[in-house]
Amino acid sequence: MGSAAGTPAVLLRFLQLGVFLALGVAALGPAAQGSRKDAWLLLYFAWQIRKVNVTRLCRQRSILTVNGQFPGPTIRARRRDVVVVNVRNHGDKNITIHRHGVDQPRNPWSDGPEYVTQCPIQPGAAFAYRVILSQEEGTLWWHAHTGFDRATVHGAIVILPKHGTAFPFVQSAMEEMTPIILGEWWRNDDANQLLEDAVRTGRDVKPSDATTINGELGDLFPCSKPGTVRVRVERGKTYLLRAINAGLTNDMSSPTATGVVEYADAPPAARRGPPAFPATLPAVDDADAAEAYPARLRSLASEAHPVDVPARADERMLVTMAVNLIPCVGPNAACSGPRGDRLAASLNNVSFQNPAAVDILGAYYRGGSARGVYDADFPDVPPSLFNFTDSGIPVAGFVSPFTERGTRVKVLEHGAAVEDTAVLGTESHPMHLHGFSFYVVGRGLGNFDEGRDPAGYNLVDPPRQNTVAVHKGGWAAIRFRAKNPVRVWFMHCHFDRHVGWGMDTVFIVKDGKAPEAKMMRPPPDMPKC
Ligand SMILES: *[C@@H]1O[C@H](CO)[C@@H](O)[C@H](O)[C@H]1NC(C)=O
Ligand SMILES: *[C@@H]1O[C@H](CO)[C@@H](O)[C@H](O)[C@H]1NC(C)=O
Ligand SMILES: *[C@@H]1O[C@H](CO)[C@@H](O)[C@H](O)[C@H]1NC(C)=O
Ligand SMILES: *[C@@H]1O[C@H](CO)[C@@H](O)[C@H](O)[C@H]1NC(C)=O
Repeated sequence: MGSAAGTPAVLLRFLQLGVFLALGVAALGPAAQGSRKDAWLLLYFAWQIRKVNVTRLCRQRSILTVNGQFPGPTIRARRRDVVVVNVRNHGDKNITIHRHGVDQPRNPWSDGPEYVTQCPIQPGAAFAYRVILSQEEGTLWWHAHTGFDRATVHGAIVILPKHGTAFPFVQSAMEEMTPIILGEWWRNDDANQLLEDAVRTGRDVKPSDATTINGELGDLFPCSKPGTVRVRVERGKTYLLRAINAGLTNDMSSPTATGVVEYADAPPAARRGPPAFPATLPAVDDADAAEAYPARLRSLASEAHPVDVPARADERMLVTMAVNLIPCVGPNAACSGPRGDRLAASLNNVSFQNPAAVDILGAYYRGGSARGVYDADFPDVPPSLFNFTDSGIPVAGFVSPFTERGTRVKVLEHGAAVEDTAVLGTESHPMHLHGFSFYVVGRGLGNFDEGRDPAGYNLVDPPRQNTVAVHKGGWAAIRFRAKNPVRVWFMHCHFDRHVGWGMDTVFIVKDGKAPEAKMMRPPPDMPKC
């Protein structure tokens, strides 16, 4: 278990026009065949979703995996490669897979969130995701985008620079290390069952029993020592550490997993003893440290990685994030959330609801059928302005704790420069946007001040991210240009239970006029609802 090695990747050779069109992965602007630097590959992965039995915390559980691996296989590719991931569902439930941080220009069909860009892959069915790597470089990851499936269905994506180019930060040769993936483990329960119970009762999801490193708990947990992750390093070498947080709930009460970094050339006796433990670790709730680190991040501008922050915004949105309640109503309704109601979450007091048995992208593409699937009226501002950071206000910031469900989306003109400022109440939320990386131009604590804060934006070298942690009682401002020829993109809190509660919305970006500003046609094997 736990090995990312042995991934069944079949190399289909350098791209030729015939292969290119036959697979329908059209129009990426194919690289010239002549020079190695411009060449790119079509990579093919065959993935089987299936259950396997694993034992953690002295107890056997059946978990959903890709190819029986936990964590799942690593996708290794180069910038501009096209990766086909053929997913066949041998599991017992619906599933979709998302590549987190991959922009997918012109091809939202392969993005992954269920009922947003696709109907799920049902048991027995298959779907070939066509993953177009465009500007991405570095470490990303993939995960299931259905319910809580990503608890065990996740893995790393490693994207190397094109041949003959380097990462902007590399000074000298760096050694590769196995990616470190952090996760969560429930001893007795199937994570999806926990989510279903929470949705049914209106309660919060039960906290996990432990955190994991590459699927293992480490030497401090019962029955876990033999599986402890060991990473071998050699003295004097420099290592590139890739770290991925695949945790679902980020509940701070779950104990911290351990792994061991050991010198390959240390005497065997030294390796047998207990590993040295850091004398001090930051407190898990050290908010100042958590805020100080991202505040220092900057883009490294270079020819291969230009910084292109929109100087002005055509669309400005102020989005408040909140955890709320929905009244417990209906025949035989019995809810056990706060006040006997049902927990929910919202953006600008809209608690997002997936449409039933149809996907938004398909409905938008087919035009006429969009009516009744969603409303294009997601509000640009919260319904009322008040002191968002006042923790005295009941239920995370709203004077009235209640919110309302709705499938309300925001429609953007092609090429619009969007500024989105998120503010929230009493909890931190990692907001993730599909389809675009964005620049984090500003962040701060307290209420966002329209008159004061924009003057402090960094429009020169802000970090480019796909997820921004919006600090408890604080705000973050992001800018992106909706110029990728794209259509339907999901924006949501990356705590998975908040997705189900509705802390999400969808951007629909209209096509531009030029052919390369229009999205591709749906692939023939698109799953049906
Ligand atoms: C997992 O264990 C259960 C109970 O021991 C068994 O019935 C099942 O066949 C096992 N599943 C697999 C995939 O080995
Ligand atoms: C908002 O509430 C916080 C917490 O109670 C308080 O510290 C702050 O002064 C308030 N801000 C305003 C503008 O009233
Ligand atoms: C949010 O919507 C709910 C349901 O319509 C309403 O009761 C509540 O007052 C709204 N909250 C705010 C802050 O407007
Ligand atoms: C699986 O997906 C299909 C197609 O959308 C849907 O009809 C069915 O209800 C889903 N099953 C479950 C258990 O959600």
